[in-house]
Amino acid sequence: MISHDRYFLDKVTNRTLEIANGKLDGDYPAGYNKYLELKAERLELQLKHYNAQQEYIAKTEDFIRRFKAGQRTKEARGREKILNRLKYGYQGANNQWIDTRVDAPQQQKKIAMNLGTQVRSGDLALKLEKLVVGYTLTEDEGRKTKDQSSGNDASVLCPSSFVLIRCPNLEIFRGQRVALMGPNGSGKTTLLRTMVGEVPALSGLARLGHKVMINYYAQAHEGLDMNATVLQEIQRIKPLIKETEARTLLGRFLFSGDDVYKRVGDLSGGERSRVALAQLTLMGGNLLVLDEPTNHLDIGAREALEVVLNEYNGTILFVSHDRYFIDAVADTIWMIDSGSIEAFDGAYSEYAAFHETKDRKPVVDERRAPNDERRTTKGDASKVKAARPANSNGHAPSAANGRGEAPHPQSPISSPQTPTSSKDDRRLRRKLAALEEEIGMLEAEMKQLAEEMTSASAQADRKRVKSLEMQYSDVNDMISSRMQEWEQLAK
Ligand SMILES: Nc1ncnc2c1ncn2[C@@H]1O[C@H](COP(=O)(O)OP(=O)(O)OP(=O)(O)O)[C@@H](O)[C@H]1O
Ligand SMILES: [Mg+2]
Repeated sequence: MISHDRYFLDKVTNRTLEIANGKLDGDYPAGYNKYLELKAERLELQLKHYNAQQEYIAKTEDFIRRFKAGQRTKEARGREKILNRLKYGYQGANNQWIDTRVDAPQQQKKIAMNLGTQVRSGDLALKLEKLVVGYTLTEDEGRKTKDQSSGNDASVLCPSSFVLIRCPNLEIFRGQRVALMGPNGSGKTTLLRTMVGEVPALSGLARLGHKVMINYYAQAHEGLDMNATVLQEIQRIKPLIKETEARTLLGRFLFSGDDVYKRVGDLSGGERSRVALAQLTLMGGNLLVLDEPTNHLDIGAREALEVVLNEYNGTILFVSHDRYFIDAVADTIWMIDSGSIEAFDGAYSEYAAFHETKDRKPVVDERRAPNDERRTTKGDASKVKAARPANSNGHAPSAANGRGEAPHPQSPISSPQTPTSSKDDRRLRRKLAALEEEIGMLEAEMKQLAEEMTSASAQADRKRVKSLEMQYSDVNDMISSRMQEWEQLAK
């Protein structure tokens, strides 16, 4: 198996072969993390041997210099012969070439990247306001396609569109590092392309904060001109750059000599990623929007990118499937799930641990649980801003609790209790406000659906009524799920 995914390798493999310096350079009976240890030990030992041999060579050369022309010339020549064998190798028995010289341990070359911005943005870098992302289809496509988020017929927002994500109202603040995660095809790239203005929003908007400038790194490197050379791609981004300066920059991204004249279209995936990253360093924006920047990158390059992103003085929103990388960089997780986004304040490992415990915990019936029990179930849930919709029973639109009863007394109209610290307080209020907005938005959608149902039923269009009913029930589920979250947080 060939992979650059350290987490995956460590989980799956028990033997590691390494190619370096143009040869098979190591064979370790271990998975990735153990391999790192074994390799470090090996390099340490090799360095010891190398140093000892270098010392021997220096001493012998000194002896030869001093005595070659003098009384001990015979001895010196003898030593020289032995030394040359050691330095250049020799033909042994059975015509075998024997090489006894110890090479200095070579560290893999790593990219050296500088990323920084001179322009400080406002505190708020990005705000999603009732944003719905997806694609508008031609009439023909519209008939064939289903709404991805609900599994029903084409969206009600626009008859010829399909919705990928109904985003809760989320914000990104200056300096935040947000990892956008989710399965293939869930709409991560589409959301980023909507933010950078390449795809129109189906409704709502992604608003940029004061003085925010986006640098976008596209997943499939669509921004690169495949017919240009590596050097031309750098000059395209910064036309006034001198060739020597561009070459120095490219050298830091491991393109040396004639490499810079290679056609981008002929490069390997990882090499193309390095060109795109080199371009990124010339752009100087203060909000990096990176779509799978580690794709194709080898482990060394990923590690270098981790370091540079951690030192970056701007804001970052990135998509990645590399859990190791996400854990090293992100302080916030946005997880796309069932056509919405669950936002979590914390690193990926915290998020994973939170979900593991949450999923193992028995569900507590909120209406019956005694107060103290409720408090314990709340716990880390305060880190979650907008959870996925529960796809359970279809609720009546007016009933928040799913049993046709009156809405729960603690509906989004009342205020939450005062939390302990003001930072938590602000965060909590933000989450509550976002949920309230989302609930409002869903309720409006529900109203529209109800009207459409009435008119479809008036026209005896039973197929349409049935499909609208399903959408209605989905939106209803979402509302009750958001209500439950709101109640949890407000407690
Ligand atoms: N221009 C387009 N028109 C219509 N549908 C599209 C268009 N581009 C992408 N899609 C569809 O939208 C869905 C989401 O695609 P997107 O590229 O946003 O997913 P993703 O979450 O980034 O996936 P991955 O993890 O594989 O990169 C897919 O089903 C895709 O086929
Ligand atoms: Mg994508």
